[in-house]
Amino acid sequence: MEISFQLGEWMNHRLKKKSAHSIHSPFLFDWYQIVYKGKLQEDIIANYRRLKKEIKNDHQTLFHQDFGAGSKKVKTSKPTISQLASASLKSESEAALIARTADYFQARKILEFGTSFGLTTALLAMVNPDAEIITLEGSEAVAQRASMIFDQLPQHGIRQIISQFDLAIEQKSLEEYGPFDMMIIDGNHRMKPTLHYFDYLLDFCSEDAVFVFDDIRWSKEMLNAWKIISSHPRITLALDMFGMGIGFLNPDLSKEYYFI
Ligand SMILES: C[S@@+](CC[C@H](N)C(=O)[O-])C[C@H]1O[C@@H](n2cnc3c(N)ncnc32)[C@H](O)[C@@H]1O
Repeated sequence: MEISFQLGEWMNHRLKKKSAHSIHSPFLFDWYQIVYKGKLQEDIIANYRRLKKEIKNDHQTLFHQDFGAGSKKVKTSKPTISQLASASLKSESEAALIARTADYFQARKILEFGTSFGLTTALLAMVNPDAEIITLEGSEAVAQRASMIFDQLPQHGIRQIISQFDLAIEQKSLEEYGPFDMMIIDGNHRMKPTLHYFDYLLDFCSEDAVFVFDDIRWSKEMLNAWKIISSHPRITLALDMFGMGIGFLNPDLSKEYYFI
């Protein structure tokens, strides 16, 4: 059921995917040429790969509390770091795209829901050393392992918050760090919570902020959440990248939906 859903979605996405010459929006064309087609500095990508290898080769077990939708692959509460990483880490190309997008829009305040072992956060920080990055993780052991990754960065503006997302919202602990220029929602892949995070964060972001939602095709309900979010009146441009969805609030753009 799930596999046929994803396969059908993948074929549909491939059919609708745009290439550079079919993009009419100048704003998107520039982003596409500079960010999507762009590359990261060699030394940064080498450092990211080294950190990722360190996590993938870490066979220590940890006590992992899952506050999200649960993993499709890891069923034990005492997985190894390596097992958990292979089930949850983002691909290098997706992490790089997020980091380059933040750089391109000069995002100064970034909020991430779902630190995991901190690899995307670390890449964001290496590419955007002056940005303030607030990252939330509910699993304490996972967040502690992430802090060992952050300690290895030469310079960073990362602030870790160990908390369930809902609790941080309820306790209003994020508000003092806003308004956010970029928000990355990468945890608790269910429709209701995802819509709740989006609605809440709309009040704490800059006028032309960028939202990134990961795993929009993790399930049918996540795809529904993305469809609702991308048709929200405050989202002007929506980019459907199959795995990730990017929504721009920039009020100067006309409402458009692109499969990239
Ligand atoms: C897919 S992983 C994040 C991957 C990470 N952003 C990266 O790119 O490497 C999702 C993380 O969110 C955390 N998480 C899920 N639901 C949560 C919730 N409701 N509150 C706090 N953390 C949660 C999980 O423990 C997990 O570490």
